[in-house]
Amino acid sequence: PYLNGLLAPDCETPKMNPVIEPLSWMLGTWLSDPPGDGIYPTLEPFHYLEEVHITHVGQPMLNFSFNAFHPDTKKPMHRECGFIRLKPDSNKVAFVSAQNTGIVEVEEGEVNGQELCIASHSIARISFAAEPRVEQIMRTFRLNAEGRLEQTVSMATTTQPMTQHLHITYKKV
Ligand code: HEM
Repeated sequence: PYLNGLLAPDCETPKMNPVIEPLSWMLGTWLSDPPGDGIYPTLEPFHYLEEVHITHVGQPMLNFSFNAFHPDTKKPMHRECGFIRLKPDSNKVAFVSAQNTGIVEVEEGEVNGQELCIASHSIARISFAAEPRVEQIMRTFRLNAEGRLEQTVSMATTTQPMTQHLHITYKKV
């Protein structure tokens, strides 16, 4: 049984809210397999591990956390968590995320079958964020033919046009 927290210790995961059914293929615990690929015109290519938890507590939204680690040292790297909401009776999706880098963002888009395509609608950052600053973000999540979850992230910064930054495949555990 899933524990909802100290305030509701005996509360098992409630039935999935039907509103989130179009995104139910994202639910689960996922681990990068193989390690993710990071690229960008300004960066040396890199690899990373990532642990993903996508859950629900019966509310009409998904809860997510993405936690990246260095493949050799296993030190924590990028981390983000938030919520994915669906507009009821539609395929419109809102993705709300807080990142350890000091970025808070809202992305919006659509789910079509087992593919979710979203793009930034608003991005806020801390006043002392490092340069260059991210100006736009686009992501695609999809469940591939092997039942693996894939995420691709592209971004535009103050120095680069929209370009891919990340691609990763996750295996459900
Ligand atoms: C660098 C944004 C996710 C690893 C950067 C840069 C930006 C950025 C703006 C600086 C690029 C430049 O110098 O031109 C983002 C955004 C993310 C994200 C918006 C999520 C939506 C990740 C993830 C990892 C990662 C999941 C995995 C470890 C790195 C690394 C660098 C970098 C290693 C270069 C070194 C550094 O600046 O820390 N990222 N990133 N990023 N990112 Fe990401």
